[in-house]
Amino acid sequence: MEINKVFQDELIKITQEAAISVYPHLGKNNKIIADEAATNSMRTNLNKMNINGNIVIGEGEMDEAPMLYIGEKVGTKNGPEFDIAVDPLEGTNFAAKNLPGAISVIAMSNKNNLFNAPESYMEKISYPQGIDHSAVDLDFSLKKNLSNIADSKNKKFESLRICVLDRPRHQRIFDEAKTLNIDIKLISDGDVSGALLVSEEKHNVDLFIGIGGGPEGVLAASALDAYDCGFQGRFIFNSDELKKRAKEMGINELDKKYKINEIVKGDSIFCATGITKGDLINGLELKNRKMVTSTLITHKSQNIKKVVTGEIDIIK
Ligand code: FBP
Repeated sequence: MEINKVFQDELIKITQEAAISVYPHLGKNNKIIADEAATNSMRTNLNKMNINGNIVIGEGEMDEAPMLYIGEKVGTKNGPEFDIAVDPLEGTNFAAKNLPGAISVIAMSNKNNLFNAPESYMEKISYPQGIDHSAVDLDFSLKKNLSNIADSKNKKFESLRICVLDRPRHQRIFDEAKTLNIDIKLISDGDVSGALLVSEEKHNVDLFIGIGGGPEGVLAASALDAYDCGFQGRFIFNSDELKKRAKEMGINELDKKYKINEIVKGDSIFCATGITKGDLINGLELKNRKMVTSTLITHKSQNIKKVVTGEIDIIK
């Protein structure tokens, strides 16, 4: 079922306000307070929506996160049932240090259509539209994935560029890219944006690859699906506790590779408002007592993929 267009504006407003709530905390070196401000704002506004919302991706489990925990019900309960994934402040380090790339993110689908998983790491890979889903795989070598992408896109192999989170666990990818003479766009944090850099030519990224947060993977999959891009993810349940929790949540095959439409099914809306200027969207800008915001919104069934600029009066 298509999600009503009216929810686009409501979700844009939610990420805009969550982003603005982080503004006073930029560069204050306190990522916990910045995250709390965004989470509080997002939760307050979600609770004003006429929906029956279920948080499937949130700030953590109920016993560790007081707000927007996995399983929390949000909305006035008068309205349709939706699954909601949130990352009120994606890139907590960026915000704390006032560095580029902090965003506030939400995704919404019909009930039971967003993947419900415990908070864990995920192996992930995303790639541009127009590539057969059998051509790129987490278990292929970097060389094979890139050769297939070069063939599909009719590009020279050496001209391809990959995006990778800068972590020691990715040394094998760095070594292989060096041998293949492939350029890397390294990101220090923020792999929702990183995974989305394959969505448009202008970002000059042909493959995003590596291990990052599972919640960030589910969020990115919603926008990538609207762009008709590819995504594959494999959760890393590497403790007994995570394995038990995954099973409780109905995941039986713990090392399964999920394709994009197993992570996000049917229609979905994705919104990300920039807090500090990043590769994907501009950050907040204070101009004449108004906060100028940039929000990337995608809505799959409406074929919407656009950046919306807003101006919000911040003097009440
Ligand atoms: P936070 O905003 O929660 O700090 O996450 C930032 C982030 O870079 C994510 O984008 C990414 O998925 C994850 O951290 C990677 O985790 P780690 O820093 O443990 O490698």
